[in-house]
Amino acid sequence: MSSTVRPFAVKSDPRLDGRAVKRIAFDEAAITTRVTELGREITAAYPDGNLLVLGLLKGSFIFLSDLVRQIIRPLQVDFLVASSYGDGTVSRGSVNLVYDPETELEGKDILLVEDIVDSGRTLNRLMSILKEREPRSLEICALLHKRIANGLQYDTRFVGFDAPNEFLVGYGLDHAENFRHLPYIASLQ
Ligand code: IMP
Ligand code: MG
Repeated sequence: MSSTVRPFAVKSDPRLDGRAVKRIAFDEAAITTRVTELGREITAAYPDGNLLVLGLLKGSFIFLSDLVRQIIRPLQVDFLVASSYGDGTVSRGSVNLVYDPETELEGKDILLVEDIVDSGRTLNRLMSILKEREPRSLEICALLHKRIANGLQYDTRFVGFDAPNEFLVGYGLDHAENFRHLPYIASLQ
């Protein structure tokens, strides 16, 4: 029931500016249910320690804000901004930090929050940068996982949903900076 497609509601959604979406992959109710469960899993996984939830901008901003309200223990929040540089059309795959968290990372339990794992390249690079800061633990929480990231060298401990191999937008995910504000996750036509 929760994944019911509502074609008329979506077709007339003024947020889409006339763009058709192929289908709703995860609707608001499904997202709310899963984020609440993830919050419970994360709360149980960190019985002690100083938890730092690190959101990777921009894609994680909505997910992170909902998720931290479901983690029932003390925590801190900070953000990372990564930038990948390519030759203009094709990414060469190098990822750099353009904003480095101000919070002390050493000794913390870091939970890196990402919107979607695709090739895994972004996470590989960020995890190796963060490991050098000597946190007590370092785990990944991804809202969506396309399960095609055969190059991902790290375990994704917390995953919201396995995602279809389609281009998804909404709930933080964008296409050319549009559609981040959709309250559901949809695949573009
Ligand atoms: P990766 O480094 O290939 O794993 O790419 C991860 C990043 O690519 C994500 O943080 C997103 O910003 C972007 N991305 C990958 N797949 C999608 C998608 O289906 N919709 C929107 N953004 C995506
Ligand atoms: Mg992103």
